[in-house]
Amino acid sequence: RLVLDWTKVHDVFPIEKHLSQETNHLLAAKKALISGKGKSPEFTGWVDYVKEESPIQLNAIKQTVETICSHSDAVVVVGIGGSLLGTKAVYEALTHSYALINQETFHRRPVLFWAGHHIALDELAELLDALDSYTPSLIVVSKSGGTTEPALAFRVLKQYLDDRFGADEAAHRIFAITDPSDGTLLKIAKENNYPYFPIPKNVGGRYSIFTPVGLLPLAIAGINVTEFVTGAQQAFEDCTSDKNHSLETNPALCYAGIRNILYANKFKIESLCTWTPKARGIAEWWKQLFGESDGKENTGLFPTSANFTTDLHSLGQYFQDGERHIFATHIRIIDEYSLLKGSLKRKIKIPHSTLNDGFDFLTGHDLSYVQNEAQQGTFLAHSDGKVPTLIWEVPELNAWWLGYWMYVNMLACGIGGYARGINPFDQPGVEDYKNNMFALMGKPGYADKAAQIRGRLNT
Ligand code: PA5
Repeated sequence: RLVLDWTKVHDVFPIEKHLSQETNHLLAAKKALISGKGKSPEFTGWVDYVKEESPIQLNAIKQTVETICSHSDAVVVVGIGGSLLGTKAVYEALTHSYALINQETFHRRPVLFWAGHHIALDELAELLDALDSYTPSLIVVSKSGGTTEPALAFRVLKQYLDDRFGADEAAHRIFAITDPSDGTLLKIAKENNYPYFPIPKNVGGRYSIFTPVGLLPLAIAGINVTEFVTGAQQAFEDCTSDKNHSLETNPALCYAGIRNILYANKFKIESLCTWTPKARGIAEWWKQLFGESDGKENTGLFPTSANFTTDLHSLGQYFQDGERHIFATHIRIIDEYSLLKGSLKRKIKIPHSTLNDGFDFLTGHDLSYVQNEAQQGTFLAHSDGKVPTLIWEVPELNAWWLGYWMYVNMLACGIGGYARGINPFDQPGVEDYKNNMFALMGKPGYADKAAQIRGRLNT
């Protein structure tokens, strides 16, 4: 079972009393989400997608996975936000960090590269340099099909493939994932005979990891996507069932409630604290999920992240001694060795040494012992420093548990948003920057806005 340990919140704040007062409210929000009776019900298709539709899509992508693996040793996933972050998170957590250095030994499947998630010249240029050493394919992911960053990266990368392989072969190396009935990318895919896979209309980007958006690239990279989906299905069973009304056994309900209560009691910032660099991508996915969903109507928790113990040497000071408006949500992987699945060296024992460095008392221990003591020491110090501390106790870092945890977080995001009265499924704020940018770049139809903005910018 996935446990959310909130006993340490209690050291700082009387959460139990508040939670029992909130229970009915949370249950009503859960019911609204599951029955499609809350705000933007047209974007809640992801709730039961994992049950029926993900397995269908696993079947549908099989042939393409084989095709891509047969002719490519690298795949560039082009997308931004919800169209990319979940895939990157799972890939980085579950594949060898040094796959690029020795693909033959560390990772015998195509490696994944990323593009279209920024407009910076340097990184895209470096990616093009790197691709010369591979035989790549492209997967372009955009639900709307009209997002500037991935659209421009796709142009550049398609040109690269055309120049390198000729237009015909290049076309066999391009795959699209997009809205199944609308949009520019769908049109492009049809016109150019690119195989394409659907992001259903009723699933928003940041809730799309269990659709082909995540499943296709992750399957190509050799991640056990069946296990990933099965974990999510189990979370669906455990957390959406009509029978599970207990906050003790329903981590989505419990997490949604604690976040809202802490927010209402002046803890305005939540930091997701991970304990391995391999989980940095998970924190990026989580920040997008909650940031874009929660930040509405001038309200909402600010989601940030820290990677420990690295950040204990920087942000640690703020956690301990800075303004008391932050709470920490840790991901603790109980079986540390599950992190070593991709590694050839299973354990690192601290060796005997003649260095006289003052660390002989650790000789013979392995690093997981030190990690565990660092975690316990940190939890205690933060409690003493009045930082409410939540801990996700994840049994193993594998595809099944990641699927489970990600689904629980999506559910908590939907339930918590409804319980707070906001719409967790739209992103009107993101549109503001997009419209300004389109106007400034001279997109047809934006002339009036452009004139207005230029006046304000004095350009
Ligand atoms: O969660 C969301 O809806 C967004 O982050 C989108 O995923 C992101 O803006 C990319 O949009 P699109 O897939 O339409 O290119």
